Amino acid sequence: MPNILITGGNRGLGLEWVRQYAGLGWRVYATCRFPEHADDLKHLSRQHGNISIHQLDITQDIHIRGICGELKETGLDILVNNAGVYFERWGKDKLGAIDYAAWLESFNVNTLGAVRMTEALRKNIARSEKRLAVAVTSHMGSIEDITTSNDYAYRSSKAALNAAMKGLVCELSRSGVGILLVHPGWVRTRMGGNEAPLSAEKSVRNMRMLVDNFTLKDSGRFFRHDGVIIPW
Ligand SMILES: NC(=O)c1ccc[n+]([C@@H]2O[C@H](COP(=O)([O-])OP(=O)(O)OC[C@H]3O[C@@H](n4cnc5c(N)ncnc54)[C@H](OP(=O)(O)O)[C@@H]3O)[C@@H](O)[C@H]2O)c1
Repeated sequence: MPNILITGGNRGLGLEWVRQYAGLGWRVYATCRFPEHADDLKHLSRQHGNISIHQLDITQDIHIRGICGELKETGLDILVNNAGVYFERWGKDKLGAIDYAAWLESFNVNTLGAVRMTEALRKNIARSEKRLAVAVTSHMGSIEDITTSNDYAYRSSKAALNAAMKGLVCELSRSGVGILLVHPGWVRTRMGGNEAPLSAEKSVRNMRMLVDNFTLKDSGRFFRHDGVIIPW
């Protein structure tokens, strides 16, 4: 049975990644910061014996070491770097109102967190059949896409994620490990809000199709959930 590890698996897109891969019969390592409060995830895991729940804050080395210790030598088919933060709201995060502490935290989670996880689990991934790390990025990390003066923190943290993942592509492709950079669309989650046009179910279904069709030549390309290439 193939296996998958998902960060931020307690809600939003992360919970949906868990739901869909569990439904396919995969062994799912569902991680989240606060398992004791992850009611939806716990409910899902009661329905699927193939889900295990693990505490993981991707900014905490001790948690990352913990999950590595649990996996030991086990191969990991897919790592989904899904967890992310968006501290700003439209109209905020403009000159004169920039929250630099929140900006640093955005980098710590959105950029460094995904790199920390990929670095820590690269040998497990290299040992598997599928050998794939997914980075859930955003079209807001596209520098060409910047046409408004806001969201400095989120945009730059996702642009940096993209740049870091491009670097990892060069290093990891030697061991056959690929990296899928994917923008999930504007999705109805706590981050995306209620106005978003896309359901988490549809977004993850589309991203799964990219995962299924992934080959190493796609490694480090910047995809939208429906397969359209996004300019850097
Ligand atoms: N929704 C959209 O429209 C949209 C668009 C483009 C990109 N994205 C990207 O898609 C991904 C998922 O977003 P979403 O819409 O599902 O957001 P969400 O509903 O706000 O969920 C964010 C998830 O990240 C987790 N998280 C935050 N900080 C963490 C940390 N330090 N360690 C581990 N987990 C942490 C949260 O856990 P807690 O519950 O503990 O806070 C939560 O599970 C993000 O990377 C986001 O940037 C979303």
